Amino acid sequence: MRLLITAGPTREPIDAVRFISNRSSGRMGIALAGAGVEAGHTVTLLLGPVEHVPSLDPRIDVHRFESSDDLGRLLDAQLVACDALVMAAAVADYRPAEATAGKLPRGAGHTLRLEATPDLVARAASRKRADQVVIAFALEAAADLERRAMEKMARKCVDAIVANPLDTMDAPGINGVWLTAVGERAAPGPLSKPQFAAWLIEQVGRLHAAAS
Ligand code: CTP
Repeated sequence: MRLLITAGPTREPIDAVRFISNRSSGRMGIALAGAGVEAGHTVTLLLGPVEHVPSLDPRIDVHRFESSDDLGRLLDAQLVACDALVMAAAVADYRPAEATAGKLPRGAGHTLRLEATPDLVARAASRKRADQVVIAFALEAAADLERRAMEKMARKCVDAIVANPLDTMDAPGINGVWLTAVGERAAPGPLSKPQFAAWLIEQVGRLHAAAS
């Protein structure tokens, strides 16, 4: 299987030196890329501006991005050659409507106007072939986790979604639930991100085998 995996946060520029970002460590996506090559798959990793980049398996083809715009361009180029897209990146939902050239001067105050970023995983899902599968992640409050994740899966028209409680971001472990568009549900319980990654790659393999 040819896996296309995204990981880490995006940085949305305010000016030449400032940006809007989030706390994503990229660990989940990086673990997925490692588990993918260990399982014998061909892996392309689109990796955002994470604070600590561990030493990556040399078999992983790595491309770096900063903004959601950069990631969108990489996805447009790479989607056609993959069997499964696993969208673990924490794409910012909003970006400054216009980035200031140079540096914003210090003043009494400044109002930032934000615009929504394009929904990249939904865009990929709308363009994919029938033999490709697209998997999204959903970070939700623990109380309503699965219902909200299922709504998100339907809204984005993806084949499966990994539902995670909010405290997963920036944490070493994960207690995720796998939900598919055809109504399957699987939950391995609390695991380290590398353990969960190996488990998830098996689910993705099964989903792709059913689609092709
Ligand atoms: N995602 C994306 N493009 C965006 C925002 C999110 O591709 N502009 C993807 C993420 O990579 C993830 C999934 O959508 O796979 C869910 O992201 P999340 O932030 O939980 O959902 P949102 O669509 O942003 O919805 P909300 O913020 O309302 O929960």
